[in-house]
Amino acid sequence: MLLEVKNLSVYYGVIQALKGISFHVDKGEVVALIGANGAGKTTTLHTISGLLKPKDGEILYKGKNIVTVAGNKIVSMGMAHVPEGRRVFADLSVAQNLRMGAYTRRDKKEIEDTLAMVYDRFPRLKERQTQRAGTLSGGEQQMLAMGRALMSHPDIILMDEPSMGLSPIFVNEIFDIIESVHKDGTTVLLVEQNAKKALSVADRAYVLETGCISTEGRASDLLNDDAIRKAYLGE
Ligand SMILES: Nc1ncnc2c1ncn2[C@@H]1O[C@H](COP(=O)(O)OP(=O)(O)OP(=O)(O)O)[C@@H](O)[C@H]1O
Ligand SMILES: [Mg+2]
Repeated sequence: MLLEVKNLSVYYGVIQALKGISFHVDKGEVVALIGANGAGKTTTLHTISGLLKPKDGEILYKGKNIVTVAGNKIVSMGMAHVPEGRRVFADLSVAQNLRMGAYTRRDKKEIEDTLAMVYDRFPRLKERQTQRAGTLSGGEQQMLAMGRALMSHPDIILMDEPSMGLSPIFVNEIFDIIESVHKDGTTVLLVEQNAKKALSVADRAYVLETGCISTEGRASDLLNDDAIRKAYLGE
């Protein structure tokens, strides 16, 4: 297991956002975490990447409990996070944003190689290297946020709603990129409201309902599950 979350409980003040959830991600998998607004998906990713501290529970990453490890150290252990709403550095150029993603790395040659790989994967970013990130379209900003995460050369990427607010063509492009990142050997934990798309790229999935995991299984089985189809696939 690359990542194992055990009995994780997270509070905002007195409100309990995660009620003792447990799940795991194996190396090489795409695992989807789906659920309605406010279910606790973003909270889960923030806690894994060290932005929030849980009240209870363990997060084992590569066998080590990372609950008390600082966020930048977690990045240097090979975990990258593409946050909800992209959060690019609006006043920096595309190239500067990408280089920020490599802040935990030291080897200049390796960083340049990764940058070339990111530009290969995102030709639009290459064309716009000097453009201020704040002037990119929403879909381009999502690509930049993903490219920036790849710059840390992660073993696992946590993605929070990468398709949010994008036109269907961009949604397809983003999911194609997720598949190609996965093919290259990167493990993916994918949070999505677009459950249909998420389940179509994922190996396995968990459904989060008001802070609890209500269902889990193979993504292909969930795609064919009547209750899931009704509640999450709009059918
Ligand atoms: N900073 C905060 N302070 C107080 N409550 C919060 C905070 N952030 C989130 N919450 C609450 O925690 C619960 C889970 O929120 P979270 O953002 O994890 O949901 P989500 O599943 O990502 O939803 P969405 O699909 O809308 O992004 C919600 O009830 C939310 O209001
Ligand atoms: Mg969210």
